[in-house]
Amino acid sequence: MISGKNILVTGGAGFIGSHLVDSLIEKNEVTVLDNLSSGNIQYIKDHLRKKNFKFIEGSILDKKIVDKATKDINVIIHEAAVVGVKKYMDNPLKVILTNTLGTHNVVEAALKKHVELFLLASTSEVYGKNVNVPLSEDSDRILGPTNIFRWCYSTTKALDEHMLFAYHHQNGLPITILRYFNAYGPRQESSDYGAVIPIFIKRILSGKPPLIHGDGKQTRGFTYITDLVSGTLLALEKEQSIGEIFNIGNEEEITINGLANLILELTDNLNKIKPKHTSYKEFYGDGYEDTLRRVADIRKARKILNYEPKIPLKEGLKKTIEWYKANLPIFG
Ligand SMILES: NC(=O)c1ccc[n+]([C@@H]2O[C@H](COP(=O)([O-])OP(=O)(O)OC[C@H]3O[C@@H](n4cnc5c(N)ncnc54)[C@H](O)[C@@H]3O)[C@@H](O)[C@H]2O)c1
Repeated sequence: MISGKNILVTGGAGFIGSHLVDSLIEKNEVTVLDNLSSGNIQYIKDHLRKKNFKFIEGSILDKKIVDKATKDINVIIHEAAVVGVKKYMDNPLKVILTNTLGTHNVVEAALKKHVELFLLASTSEVYGKNVNVPLSEDSDRILGPTNIFRWCYSTTKALDEHMLFAYHHQNGLPITILRYFNAYGPRQESSDYGAVIPIFIKRILSGKPPLIHGDGKQTRGFTYITDLVSGTLLALEKEQSIGEIFNIGNEEEITINGLANLILELTDNLNKIKPKHTSYKEFYGDGYEDTLRRVADIRKARKILNYEPKIPLKEGLKKTIEWYKANLPIFG
């Protein structure tokens, strides 16, 4: 495990960032820069009084704050971004500006401070509509037209990746890119702007049917948060990860219909609640396109990082459901 470093986690009060901080804080100095737009101070509250922890509330769009947050930093883990499909549809401008200009500010600061590593949290969304699963790091990106807002997030993250490769090539910035595949677990945003698993769990725990967009035959491979954190920590440790992209995912593929039924079963609601289907148009308005299959090829991460996802979907869902049962009244 990485140790003795001075690490900045942007977006460190968010779902993934806060879990990373929980691990990194054991053996490193950790600074979190987060504007709390979707993150929650509660997720890092246990660290606030620790000597090796610093929280800076502010935006990656503010160069002065970024400069302050990167003082004496050796390693940057860039998790801050506007995330969540409904956000891409409702406020594409915020997604585009934060995920590109914000990233550029952090990269420029990284260069100025001569950091040892800049790790970017990228996404399986960069593969767009490519259904040739499992998707490997050099699979093609297949996207819809630019007037479909849905693809703006994918494009911003791909641009971030291009930006990092360019800085690596032209300025020698040491970079690593991780493409996370559909993470889930405690602390993930459960509002309509969040992700499918917490939204289904929240609805089911409140006695409502899970709302499936489209026919529900679209598939995903979901990655439990502890596996994603271990993949990230492995990438931070390994010298061979510099200049490389890795898929961090789980090969278990499930349809969204199957996912809804599994959560109903695990919450003892299979005979009480029936899933409801809705059209994409009804939920997102005009101009939405979905991706029909998305599963990671993780051979590269296995080989180079020694990454191996350990938590099967059913087990991860049980843990996640327990967390939401205990915490929904607080963070609902
Ligand atoms: N959750 C997933 O399934 C998933 C999949 C692939 C990639 N990712 C990537 O992982 C990263 C973390 O995602 P997450 O799921 O934890 O989402 P999240 O929304 O919980 O975390 C993002 C964090 O960034 C912060 N933030 C947003 N705008 C900011 C700004 N302008 N300045 C400072 N902080 C800002 C938010 O407050 C939040 O704490 C993102 O970069 C996302 O693109 C997530």
